Amino acid sequence: MSARIAAIHSVVAVLEHGKMLDEALPLAVTGLSARDRALAQELSYGVLRWYHRFLPVVDRLLHRPMNPGELDLKVLLLVALHEMEHLRTPDHAAVSEAVAGTRLLGKPWASGLVNALLRRFQRERVQLLAEVLQDPGARLAQPRWLMEEMQRDWPGHWEQILLHSNERPPMDLRVNSGRCTRAQYVQVLADAGIDSHDSPITESGVRLTTPVNVQDLPGFERGLVTVQDLAAQLAAPLLGPQTGGRVLDACAAPGGKATHILEYCPGISELVAVDQGADRAALLATSLRRLQLTATIIDADARTPAQWWDGRSFDRILLDAPCSATGVIRRHPDIKVLRHSEQLPKLEQLQAALLDALWPLLTSGGRLLYVTCSLLHRENDRQIEKFSSKHKDVRVLPISATWGTATNCGRQTLPSLDDTDGFYYALLERL
Ligand SMILES: C[S@@+](CC[C@H](N)C(=O)[O-])C[C@H]1O[C@@H](n2cnc3c(N)ncnc32)[C@H](O)[C@@H]1O
Repeated sequence: MSARIAAIHSVVAVLEHGKMLDEALPLAVTGLSARDRALAQELSYGVLRWYHRFLPVVDRLLHRPMNPGELDLKVLLLVALHEMEHLRTPDHAAVSEAVAGTRLLGKPWASGLVNALLRRFQRERVQLLAEVLQDPGARLAQPRWLMEEMQRDWPGHWEQILLHSNERPPMDLRVNSGRCTRAQYVQVLADAGIDSHDSPITESGVRLTTPVNVQDLPGFERGLVTVQDLAAQLAAPLLGPQTGGRVLDACAAPGGKATHILEYCPGISELVAVDQGADRAALLATSLRRLQLTATIIDADARTPAQWWDGRSFDRILLDAPCSATGVIRRHPDIKVLRHSEQLPKLEQLQAALLDALWPLLTSGGRLLYVTCSLLHRENDRQIEKFSSKHKDVRVLPISATWGTATNCGRQTLPSLDDTDGFYYALLERL
């Protein structure tokens, strides 16, 4: 297996079988060297990042549509275009790798076709790209439904936000304040030859100048640090857990925010961490173990507390709701092809049901932090507006901050604003 073939197999698994790339890729790169694994990652993420730009180019190069059974050949062409346009692979090498790839895919009959199409792209690329880029979907490299939603919700900013969603994300860390200070860890990084700087928007955050492999982070296995986008590190301080208080994290896996709550306020009496499915609960347990933290893990549907709640109310509830994930497209470009507008109503129903079910578990004077990694008002402000108009005992608290932008009910971080993922936060108090 070569890096390019592994990339092709994982992109096909996403496009054809709806698999998530970060599940498909590790399977496809088994047995490859570290260098080839890194190349397969670059190619597969790149192809999906630029899919809506290069697919129309491939379609123009082909005189007639390819059989659905030849999706792997289409992806092979997308890999070559990504290499020619965005990587330092010389054109001739990208072409010859693609031609060799037809044989590795068991389709040597396609080598002449692939060679001819890519040579034609080399000759006509300026004109071809100019034609294709007239379409906003190709220019912004985004699906049409998302452009329409964004245009409606963020008039004046939507193109900037979507363009920034195509950038490679930085690598951010959260320093475990129970184990060392941020200044100490930045020094540990410097001693290991890793350049970094403090986050201006969180107390625990550090941004690396250049991403590294997680295994190369000093003290990672010992729990000194967690990889987490800076915007996600805003959740624990906004929730404001108090010493002696009882906290519920209702959608907790894999535990990024749950473990931060425990690091941020080690004096809470209990953290109850709910998620649905044994695999999700296992991920939570792994995160807690690495960071040497303790929580009560419950594998359950958070919408039905009658089945798992012991009747003792919570002072703080974090609802990091399942959502479209349109705020994390730069980290997960497969979202562009895996998400469709038809999925949104179901997600909205789930978010509303979670809010309704969890609210009675909150003590009077307690706070619920509603979080999504969505850019869409229908999952964010709209959801909170509907909820607060339905319940008389809800006060929407203002969030004043230097980061993000204020919305009607909360605050939104944006890749185009703070160079972070796009998170939405709304803080609700129970009267
Ligand atoms: C945005 S992720 C949570 C990320 C997590 N808070 C973190 O910071 O690592 C949403 C989670 O909600 C969980 N989920 C979805 N529906 C649920 C339900 N009905 N009850 C409990 N958890 C649910 C998913 O399994 C997923 O782990």
